[in-house]
Amino acid sequence: MESDIAYHTALDWLAWQVELGADEAIAETPVDRFVAAAEPVAAPASMAAAAPGAPPVAGPAGEVDPVVEARKAALRAGDLGQLATEMEGFAHCDLRHGARNFVFCDGDPAARVMIVGEAPGREEDMQGKPFVGRAGQLLDRMFDSIGLARTAAEARKALYITNILPWRPPQNRDPSPVEIAMMLPFVQRHIKLAAPDLLILMGNVSCDGLLGRRGITRLRGNWQEVMQRPAMPMFHPAFLLRQPVRKREAWADLLAVQARLRT
Ligand code: URA
Repeated sequence: MESDIAYHTALDWLAWQVELGADEAIAETPVDRFVAAAEPVAAPASMAAAAPGAPPVAGPAGEVDPVVEARKAALRAGDLGQLATEMEGFAHCDLRHGARNFVFCDGDPAARVMIVGEAPGREEDMQGKPFVGRAGQLLDRMFDSIGLARTAAEARKALYITNILPWRPPQNRDPSPVEIAMMLPFVQRHIKLAAPDLLILMGNVSCDGLLGRRGITRLRGNWQEVMQRPAMPMFHPAFLLRQPVRKREAWADLLAVQARLRT
C-alpha cells in the first residue's frame, strides 16, 4: 500500500515536471555540458545534399542514412495515397513514437495554392489534421479574406495544406535540422505530386526546409522559387497570434498572393 502511494506521488511529480517543460531525465552522474557542447553532433552524411536541388550522397558503407532512405521511399510513391503510406511507414524518424497521429494533409490536393507549415501541435496531433488549433483558425480566416478555403468546393478557390514534419515534436519544440533534412524528400515529393501553382512557406521551419535558409522577417513578402514554382514566405499564424501588429505585413502578403493568382 505504502509503495503504491509512493508510486502515484512520484507519477504526479513527473507529470508536473513535464507540464513545466522538463523533457529529459537527469542521470545518476553529472553531465559536463561544456564538454558535450564542444563535441560535434553527428548528422546524416547526406544532410548537406538534402538542400533543395542537391544531388544525393550515400552514407558510409553499411550505415543506414535516413535521408537516403527517405529519398528512396518518397520516389516509390506514384500518388498522394502512396506517399502517405510510405511516410507513415518510415521508421527512421523517432518523432513517430511520441505522436498520437500521423498528420499528412488537409484541403483539396487539386488546389492552386499549397501551404507548407511546420509540424503538428497538440490539436493537430489529436485530430490527425494540419492547422486545426488556434493558429489554424487564424490561418483559415486569413485565407478566407482572399477567397480561399480548405473546404472550398471548387479547386480554384481551394487550399491544400501540409507540414514539413508529419509528427508532433515533444512539447512543441522546434524541429531539429536532422528531422527537417530527413523528412524533406517526402515534402518535395508531396509538392511534385500535388503540383500546385504556388506555394506558401509558413514560417521559418518551412523556409529552412524548402529554401535552405531562415530569417522570415526578411524573407516574407518576397517571392521565391521552389521546385520551379513561385513561393511566398509568410509569418506563421502562431507568430501572428503573439505579435498581432505584424498582421499588417501578413495582409500585404495575402494581397500579393491574390494578385499572383489573377495573372
Ligand atoms: N503549426 C504548423 O506549422 N502546422 C500545424 O499543423 C499546426 C501548427
